[in-house]
Amino acid sequence: MYLSDADLEHYRTQGYLLVPDLFTPDEIGRLRAQVPVEAGVAGPRAVFETDGSTVRAIHGSHATNELFGKMARHPRLVHPAEQVLGSPVYVHQFKINVKAAFVGDVWKWHQDFIFWRKQDGMREPLVINAMVFLDDVTEFNGPLLIVPGSHEAGVIDVEDEQKKKDDWTSSFSADLRYAISHDTLAALVSRAGIVAPKGRAGSVLFTHCNLVHGSSPNMSPFNRALAILTYNSVTNPLLAVPEPRPEFLVSRTFTPISPVADDALRTDARQGVPTV
Ligand code: SIN
Ligand code: MN
Repeated sequence: MYLSDADLEHYRTQGYLLVPDLFTPDEIGRLRAQVPVEAGVAGPRAVFETDGSTVRAIHGSHATNELFGKMARHPRLVHPAEQVLGSPVYVHQFKINVKAAFVGDVWKWHQDFIFWRKQDGMREPLVINAMVFLDDVTEFNGPLLIVPGSHEAGVIDVEDEQKKKDDWTSSFSADLRYAISHDTLAALVSRAGIVAPKGRAGSVLFTHCNLVHGSSPNMSPFNRALAILTYNSVTNPLLAVPEPRPEFLVSRTFTPISPVADDALRTDARQGVPTV
């Protein structure tokens, strides 16, 4: 799947693009069924909510789970990423943000690139997120909130309130590192407002790495899992840093992706072979 000129223009000016129903209910159902499997085996790859027992995020499943591995190499995600970045890409980061019913907590307002620049030695904002909706995303279950066009601000300077913590989970907790100040957010929103792209499971939200975004807690009885695939340009490999984050969190293997066949998420089912 390739993006149209109008899609690319929307992404360039707004900093995001929602593609409804990019994956079929059958494909997405197979992927969603793997979330509890991954949560069960994640070990250090899992981050928990403040209750200490509900999984908030799972990292690196593309390297441990056959089906998520195929999704990461799926042409419906890789081709748009290549179009936007103008080069082959590799997976910089893969995470499943679970946002569980009743418990899934806030993601404070932030930009993504600042984490990768400050912590991982990423030089240029030549990186894109593909957020695959594993559940229906509605107004009730904590959709991503976006300030349209805010990527144009570049990297916004923030106070790193947690710099004394060296624990990498502070980049994924409800008390998020590099959160944007209320004043800055209010000024951006007064100009451009807020949007909350929603859609059925299988829809995909592409976001620019400098887009200002966050999400509210999920007080609904509906889960809101997203698989977030971050594709970096192979022209933008990470510089060496003194304390690299774990490979399951941030890949330092910059090999370009060779996409799988378009029906890869369905092939096993047709052949009657278990998916994992
Ligand atoms: C969310 O899962 O709502 C936040 C995602 C992100 O900031 O990457
Ligand atoms: Mn983010």
